[in-house]
Amino acid sequence: MRQVAFASTNQNKYREVQSILTLHGIEIEFVRVELVEIQSDSLEAIAKEKARSAFAQVSKPVIVEDDGLFVSALGGFPGQYSSYVFKTIGNAGILRLLSNKQDRSASFMSLIAFYDGNDVVIFEGRVAGRISEQEASGGWGYDPIFVPDDADLTYAELQNKDDYSHRRRALDRFAEWYLRL
Ligand code: IMP
Repeated sequence: MRQVAFASTNQNKYREVQSILTLHGIEIEFVRVELVEIQSDSLEAIAKEKARSAFAQVSKPVIVEDDGLFVSALGGFPGQYSSYVFKTIGNAGILRLLSNKQDRSASFMSLIAFYDGNDVVIFEGRVAGRISEQEASGGWGYDPIFVPDDADLTYAELQNKDDYSHRRRALDRFAEWYLRL
């Protein structure tokens, strides 16, 4: 079975990455490390730097993930600031910001960055959707307020979030490439 390390401190991401990559016959080793997260307007630049920081600590081929939630009526906010915004205003804050907006469309993006000491390779997964009217229960992060297109339920309520997720799309691309290496 092919293997790759996954560096993160997020146990929820780990569970999802593991179940998705298992479908492709790739085994992951979870490496719980704090990664350098640079300030940048570019999610790609952040992901690349995270991958280099991870490799410096684990010294083996590694993937990292960086995500962003982009809300149309808020000009793409929180985007690359999604983690900070979640910790500060949270889901309730996003719902408040949208309370008088008609357009609730949004997208979720995942960037998987692979690094083995040569070049950093990036795989993108994006899912269009919308922000729900109310916060559902369950899930983690923005799961309770994000409804992917083609589903009437939030990520938090879906039994099969992995079939719809931005993470699934990015990891499917990564797996297809990695298995051909
Ligand atoms: P990060 O900086 O890549 O960890 O992610 C940015 C923010 O998006 C963090 O607050 C995460 O909790 C959140 N996030 C990333 N992926 C998901 C997801 O699949 N569901 C809900 N929230 C997520």
